[in-house]
Amino acid sequence: MTDDIFSSGLEELAARGLLRAATAFDGGSARTVTVNGRTLLLFCSNDYLGLSRDPRIVAAVKEGLDRYGFGSGGSRLISGTRTPHAALEKTIAAFLGAEAALLFGTGFSANSGVIPALAGKGDLILADKLNHASLVDGCRLSRAEFARYPHCDMGTLEKLLQKGRSARARWIITDGLFSMDGDLAPLDAICALAKKHDARVYVDDAHAFGVLGKNGRGTPELFGVERDIDILMGTLGKAAGGIGAFAAGKKSTVDWLLNKARSFIFSTALPASVAAGNLKAVEILGNFQTERNAFIQITEEFHRHLKTAGFAISSKSYIIPLVIGDAGDTVATAKLLWDEGIFLQAIRPPAVQEGTSRLRLTLSLAHTGQDRETVMRALSKHVDVGYKGTGQ
Ligand SMILES: Cc1ncc(COP(=O)(O)O)c(C=O)c1O
Repeated sequence: MTDDIFSSGLEELAARGLLRAATAFDGGSARTVTVNGRTLLLFCSNDYLGLSRDPRIVAAVKEGLDRYGFGSGGSRLISGTRTPHAALEKTIAAFLGAEAALLFGTGFSANSGVIPALAGKGDLILADKLNHASLVDGCRLSRAEFARYPHCDMGTLEKLLQKGRSARARWIITDGLFSMDGDLAPLDAICALAKKHDARVYVDDAHAFGVLGKNGRGTPELFGVERDIDILMGTLGKAAGGIGAFAAGKKSTVDWLLNKARSFIFSTALPASVAAGNLKAVEILGNFQTERNAFIQITEEFHRHLKTAGFAISSKSYIIPLVIGDAGDTVATAKLLWDEGIFLQAIRPPAVQEGTSRLRLTLSLAHTGQDRETVMRALSKHVDVGYKGTGQ
């Protein structure tokens, strides 16, 4: 009986072009994937700086495996903490200029654990409409009053702050660089509103940590508002090339999270080898200014080429939404690109809003100039010019 419900649900998803499957690749690199002996250019990974294959990081993980074995054998507060976990937390905090940082297994578990630990009944959370699903779930789990403002709409945010004057505490929660649209939250305006209305600010910088800002400290550094952010959450699974996440802020806040965030407390610690690899990655990011600048220049140049080719894109970043609209059409376009040797996954609801299915093209420092030329040629051939992003 239950099976029938799910079978018909799957059929309905298929009819709407929304059925998903995970393609298993046999190998590849930070710039390619290989499947059935065929190599395709990879233009939809979050490995923005190509660090997932950095030999220094791979060596640190191997050394960690030899020293600590495979699993950590327990949660962080029971028996799972090893020296690399502690060193990583210290190094992340130092990198960001924060008092402390706490490590989580993934970004999803960070957001779904941290928010309910910080906000609860009697509090008010105001969140951008295009925030990542893990932020939405964290907000729902918190049992705080939760309202979403239209994407980057500061006027509505201010009205909601005024309306929420009587809440015990007010939080503004936003992506720093929006994951599916590639545009930035106006953190300068958000922090000004937070000051004016005595609210706290939580930024999920999953896609900007390590890349944006002069020193790679992300969107708060880019906007010059680092001191005004109460919690900076970031992931280690994107530009850092590994897996895991952190929440950084004041020591008292981080100590509170260590005691209260359920996804931290009730979950097995990341393997120490992974923490050691992440540690190496953050150390590398601390001395990566030349590469970061080169990547930003590559990004700007790619946007110039897109404009010349007639694409109207709202994002200016290395996350480039080519919004096609219909889910089935997006899948069909992705297939045409696949046939040309380019892997660009179709992004459909619920990852994005209904009617805004897209190819989410991402750049990586691992690509060559020739790779970018190849993808530009294929886009001009198969993706109608004038498709717009939905960031604004
Ligand atoms: C903005 C944002 N936050 C959080 C996450 C979750 O991070 P993780 O993949 O480490 O679970 C993602 C991942 O896609 C993301 O885009």
